Amino acid sequence: MEDKKKVIFSGIQPSGELTIGNYLGAIKNWVKLQDQYDCLFCVVDLHAITVKQVPADLRRRTLEVLAIYIAAGIDPEKNTLFIQSHVPAHSEAAWLLNCNSYMGELGRMTQYKDKSQKMGDSIVAGLFNYPVLMAADILLYNTDLVPVGKDQTQHLELARDLAQRFNNAYSPTFVVPEGYIAKEGAKIMSLQEPTKKMSKSDENQNSFILLLDPPEVIRKKVSRAVTDGIGVVNYTDEQPGVKNLIDILCAIKGLKPDEVVADYVGKGYAELKSDVADTIVAELSPLQEKVKELLADKSYLEEVYKKGAEKANYLATKTLRKMQKKIGFIPR
Ligand code: TYM
Repeated sequence: MEDKKKVIFSGIQPSGELTIGNYLGAIKNWVKLQDQYDCLFCVVDLHAITVKQVPADLRRRTLEVLAIYIAAGIDPEKNTLFIQSHVPAHSEAAWLLNCNSYMGELGRMTQYKDKSQKMGDSIVAGLFNYPVLMAADILLYNTDLVPVGKDQTQHLELARDLAQRFNNAYSPTFVVPEGYIAKEGAKIMSLQEPTKKMSKSDENQNSFILLLDPPEVIRKKVSRAVTDGIGVVNYTDEQPGVKNLIDILCAIKGLKPDEVVADYVGKGYAELKSDVADTIVAELSPLQEKVKELLADKSYLEEVYKKGAEKANYLATKTLRKMQKKIGFIPR
């Protein structure tokens, strides 16, 4: 009999247009891992509503994210691609895990602290509980590995803690998942404030490159990227703007920072920026074409997410039933 493959689960929120940060920190690695693992890739729409969404935009972006997964090379035949809200077990398991989570540990999440600051007096409870839903996503599928960007480390740690806590309180139920954070591309920084993460929710449009930005926009944004007055291409924390451009090159081309630095001896930032822009455009152009084609064929996308939901529902419900039984609910 064939050895059972290990399980990967990951997801992206359709809360804004995806950036090259999402692509290099997550999707590009998923593509590389899909043959060795049994993968579930989810469009996490339940997470997206922790901040206000315009319903029509949320619908459009949900399909767009799915199309991006496929266009980037994730094969819907080999992997389970689905929309989180199509699998009710995520919400149900999140409640069960919420009753095993502590206010203190959730209040310590840096992403919660950052995002809640922007909400003034009306901080929604969902934002606070969000990492518990993420833990449910992961734990429902007996996930071994979670490929994400560096910003998700703390959330992943919570998922591990909740798995262990549940296993100890009842009996072994969950696999305790490991994170997979690739060296290159794990944290792509803002082009305008390179000490801050590149984020799809940034108000400054020049701070990020969207996966669907046209080539001329990509070139303009890269040429405006903040660098420094040193004028020498080095990979150091003293030159965070230049370091970020090198990271982008490395993540796309599979190079090491030293190799890039060696290539630019005696060359300036203009040349580096022009090469970075060319590299991004070359990487994204075929993806953009494919996304356009996929979005024109809604019935195909529907087929993919329906088939994905069916498979995910089966797996997730099995784990949920186990949780319910151990907690003491009467089997239905
Ligand atoms: P989200 O939607 O903010 O981001 C999706 C993925 O992109 C990565 N990422 C980055 N990587 C490198 N540089 C950046 N600037 C950058 N910005 C974003 C993120 O690390 C992530 O991998 N909570 C998650 C979504 C989620 C999830 C899950 C992930 C919900 N349930 C279960 C894994 C497993 C989030 O908000 O990601």
